[in-house]
Amino acid sequence: MSEPGPPSARDVEVEIDSSVPHPARIYDYLLGGTVNFAVDREAAEYSTAQMPGGSDTARAIVRANREFLGRAVRYLATEAGVRQFLDIGTGIPNADNVHAVAHQAAPDARVVYVDNDPIVLAHAHTLLAAAADSATTTYVHGDLHDPTEILTKAATTLDVARPIAIVVVGVLHFFRDDEDPWGMVARLVEAVAPGSYLAASHLASDIEPEMMAALAERYDDTVPEPMVVRSHDEVARFFDGLEMVEPGLVPINEWPEPQDMPGPAAGWTLPVHGGIGRKP
Ligand SMILES: C[S@@+](CC[C@H](N)C(=O)[O-])C[C@H]1O[C@@H](n2cnc3c(N)ncnc32)[C@H](O)[C@@H]1O
Repeated sequence: MSEPGPPSARDVEVEIDSSVPHPARIYDYLLGGTVNFAVDREAAEYSTAQMPGGSDTARAIVRANREFLGRAVRYLATEAGVRQFLDIGTGIPNADNVHAVAHQAAPDARVVYVDNDPIVLAHAHTLLAAAADSATTTYVHGDLHDPTEILTKAATTLDVARPIAIVVVGVLHFFRDDEDPWGMVARLVEAVAPGSYLAASHLASDIEPEMMAALAERYDDTVPEPMVVRSHDEVARFFDGLEMVEPGLVPINEWPEPQDMPGPAAGWTLPVHGGIGRKP
C-alpha cells in the first residue's frame, strides 16, 4: 500500500484565479519566482512605481525579509534550541524555506506550514517533497483569521506541551486593525507552552513614511487584500507579554546585527520592523 502523500494540486481541488492579483504571487514575482501571472506582475510594478529605484527597491526589501526569516529560524533552531515551528503565511516555496533552515541545525525539527492561498497549497508538494521526512514537515491549508483551527490541525504534527516557534513573517500587514490581528497572534501565543517564541516582521509606517504610505495606497488600489503599514509601537504590541530577544524590534536588516544591503537598498534603514519574543 502506498504512503499518503502531501497535499498537492493533483489530489486537492484547487481554484486558482489568474484574473485577480494575489499577495503570495506578487511576493513570488518580486523574489524572482515563476509562480505568478500577468496581473500579479502588473500589480507589483504599479504598487512599487513610486519607490526610489521602483520595483528593484521592492525586490531588495522582499529579499531582505526572506533573509531575516532565515536568520530568525537559524537562531531559533540553534541558540534557542526550538524543535517545533509553526510557519503561518508560508508563501510559495523559494530558496531556504523554514524546514530547510531548521533541519540544517536540527534534522529532527518539526515544521507545520500554513497558508490560505490555493496557489501555495498547489505548490506545497514541492516544500514537502524536499523535506527528508514527511512526518516532521506538514502543510495545513488554513487562515490566520481562525487560529483555533490552525492549532487543531497543527496538533497532528506539533506537541503544544513543548515549545513552538510561531513564525508570522511578512503576513500581519494583510490584516486591518478592525480584524484585530493582535488578538489572532495572542490566541496562538496563549495556546503554546512557556519557552515558545514568536518571530514576526511587518511593513513599517514610520520608516520612509511617505514612500510606505504611497505603497500601501497603490497596493490597496489594485489588490483585494488590504496592506496596512504600522509603526514600531503598533508592531511591538504583537509581542505583548513576551521577552524580546536582543536587539529587540528593529529594522529587519539590523537583526540581530547590521547586515550589508546590496543594490538600491544599500545604506538604507529598511522599512520593515522585525524581531523575536520568548514566552516566559
Ligand atoms: C508576503 S508572503 C510571506 C511569505 C513568507 N512568510 C516570507 O516571509 O518569505 C505572505 C503570505 O501570507 C499569506 N497570507 C495572507 N493572508 C493570510 C491569512 N489570512 N492566513 C494565512 N496566510 C495568509 C499569503 O497567501 C502569502 O503567501
